[in-house]
Amino acid sequence: MTLNSSAEVVTRELRGKVLLVTIDHAPVNALSADVRRGLLAAIDAADADAAVQAVLLVGAGRNFIGGADIREFGKPPVPPSLPDVCNRIEACTKPVVAAIHGAALGGGLEVALAAHYRVAVDGARLGLPEVQLGLLPGAGGTQRTPRLIGAQAALDLILSGRHAGAQEALALGLVDRLGSSGDILAEGLAYVHELLAAHAPVRRTCDAAALGERAASLAAVATARAQTAQKSRGLFSPLKIVDAVEAAIEQPFDEGLRIERKLFLQCIDSPQRAGLVHAFFAEREVLKAPETRTAKPRTLERIGVVGGGTMGAGIAVAALDAGLPVTMIERDDASLARGRAHIEKVYDGLIAKGRLSQQKKAEIMTRWSGSTSYDALTDADLVIEAVFEDLAVKQAVFAELDRVCKAGAVLATNTSYLDIDAIAASISRPADVIGLHFFSPANIMKLLEVVVPKQVSADVVATAFELAKKLKKTPVRAGVCDGFIGNRVLAVYRSAADAMMEDGASPYQIDAAVRAFGFPMGPFQVVDLAGGDIGWAARKRRAATRNPAARYVQIADRLCERGWFGQKTGRGFYLYPEGTRSGVPDPEVEAIIEAERARAGITPRTFTDEEIVRRYMAAMINEGAKVVHEGIALRPLDVDVTFLYGYGFPRYRGGPMKYADMVGLPKILADIREFAKEDPLFWQASPLLIDLVERGADFASLNQTA
Ligand code: 3HC
Ligand code: NAI
Repeated sequence: MTLNSSAEVVTRELRGKVLLVTIDHAPVNALSADVRRGLLAAIDAADADAAVQAVLLVGAGRNFIGGADIREFGKPPVPPSLPDVCNRIEACTKPVVAAIHGAALGGGLEVALAAHYRVAVDGARLGLPEVQLGLLPGAGGTQRTPRLIGAQAALDLILSGRHAGAQEALALGLVDRLGSSGDILAEGLAYVHELLAAHAPVRRTCDAAALGERAASLAAVATARAQTAQKSRGLFSPLKIVDAVEAAIEQPFDEGLRIERKLFLQCIDSPQRAGLVHAFFAEREVLKAPETRTAKPRTLERIGVVGGGTMGAGIAVAALDAGLPVTMIERDDASLARGRAHIEKVYDGLIAKGRLSQQKKAEIMTRWSGSTSYDALTDADLVIEAVFEDLAVKQAVFAELDRVCKAGAVLATNTSYLDIDAIAASISRPADVIGLHFFSPANIMKLLEVVVPKQVSADVVATAFELAKKLKKTPVRAGVCDGFIGNRVLAVYRSAADAMMEDGASPYQIDAAVRAFGFPMGPFQVVDLAGGDIGWAARKRRAATRNPAARYVQIADRLCERGWFGQKTGRGFYLYPEGTRSGVPDPEVEAIIEAERARAGITPRTFTDEEIVRRYMAAMINEGAKVVHEGIALRPLDVDVTFLYGYGFPRYRGGPMKYADMVGLPKILADIREFAKEDPLFWQASPLLIDLVERGADFASLNQTA
């Protein structure tokens, strides 16, 4: 017999004495208002129906419940609230069992914790990842979890947001038993029948006693508070989590719930929640580039890499780690040996840290082969070129690839700045050529700009997105221009930083202000890390084409002329005594800056940290808007993801375009117009930004259309 519940996303079916309640709300059974209503109605029905002796909660599809409906955050709340639903489940007078497969995350785990018994099967993932969205578990999770598994384990789970597998969940006490088959319904029903046969009582988590001795629990809270204050770097919700767990120890259950609710609402209202939720959806939206909908990826089983330097080796490691066989081509035997050595160095580093065994390394390296002859690439499905940044050299490489590669092979370049259309046009199969712009170190950095030249075929683009998935990278679709999305925008805010330095701010103050905003490093630290010579070479290359009217700050050139390239040479903008990695300010650099100001006829002035960030961000946002306006980025969110994954932009601010929306576009535009009074050539407002301000719209309004 099937009974219709108030909402069809939750169905009820009487199976003998058991009311089977199924949450069926694709894609992840998120707890939207309909689901909450359905769950409430189901428990009411179970209590009211004498034929029901127990309730079984299961999720349809691949998960139990993926959490609260993240799309509802920031909108007016619709009753019933999730805490009320959880309390109602817990109050049910008949045993309620949650049968967990796939994700039981956030509110999903909270529903399970409100049930009286829990069974999980292999592949289940239990966790309270709210912290990653700037939140805390707000439906009893901070109160029931410590009561069930103790303060220490609860703090670890909630503060990390990590997922526990079924085995670990059992060991922690989050679930009562593991089902041995993959059939969640059968496992759940078997467990309920067993409980009924044993006359198992209603057993409420609010009465569980794992908190144990108060002093020990409070000590765990004190340690967590100290560690969190140190580690959470400006994040709002972690310390609120500690407060909520403390309330679980100090307060009766109902009062604890009240405190949790208050703290949860503070988190919901915080801009960090808005930034982190934006990041969550944006990183999923970027996967849906138009070509991935219209075309099927080509075969992707064998990879070729040309060049075994910094990038070629890193890309090879990324592919090897994904289980793909890699053939590396270098110019001569010595370079090939160096390329192999670069790869081995990565694995040896892991071995030294105890994260890889010699045997595993040997196994990985069997997938690597090297050659100085392009003929070794005849089987490759996709080849990534990572040789010197020189168009003629790259075109010569592509001519070889054109000669040897099989029909249908994807031919990719890792160029940072060069014209990929020109590379494509130089060979007989331009439709197979694409840009795959990895970031250094390529085996670690998550961003992959997929640069789409004019003539490329859609299935090649789809293949690039498939490769990103295999390599566990976050792909962003970009168009061809100097620097694509990321490096193009970077060049502009770097210029803004250079101008501030010449006008009176020290590089150390600028770096500190940018770090205080949330970046892990400031722009001058980044130069020192990457090597000042790289930018210097690019500046020399562009010297001939630079607009002579544009301001050009020469300070970095003065450092490079002295051979001060940063960490690798022991000094750059900072001094690195005896090879240390964290630099100290260098009075000689300050003297050079003074001299350059004098040469340029500039009377230095002071900047507040806030002014520095305003200019830095205005430059970034304005160029980001230009990149969207020109179609180089599909939407503002593509710029956001580029900066979150490739440039250390603080995730809790959502990305530069989200940040601009939060500050307000009229304010950003007013800043640009103010700065333009000093340098109108540099500070030309993006037509898109002007248009949005005139229409009273924001960047978010452009995020729907891919
Ligand atoms: N609410 C709304 N939509 C969600 C969602 C959620 N909780 N979780 C996932 N989705 C959406 C995604 O946006 C995506 O939509 P799209 O197809 O339109 O892009 C779709 O569901 C599928 O998501 P994934 O691509 O991520 O699917 P996977 O199968 O790879 O992963 C998952 C499934 C493990 C559940 C993963 O989606 C996930 O981690 N979700 C978020 C879990 C989470 O953070 N839950 C806590 C929410 S906050 C909370 O519960 C507060 C409470 O304490 C009060
Ligand atoms: P690198 O100088 O470390 O390595 C280049 C390698 O290419 C050398 O090992 C060289 O022997 C090899 N090589 C040169 N000509 C060759 C040829 N004709 N055939 C085979 N091998 C040849 O340079 P790096 O840093 O790895 O850069 C490579 C490419 O990646 C460049 O286009 C660069 O712009 C781009 N890139 C670099 C990033 C970085 O941070 N270093 C980041 C993203 C892209």
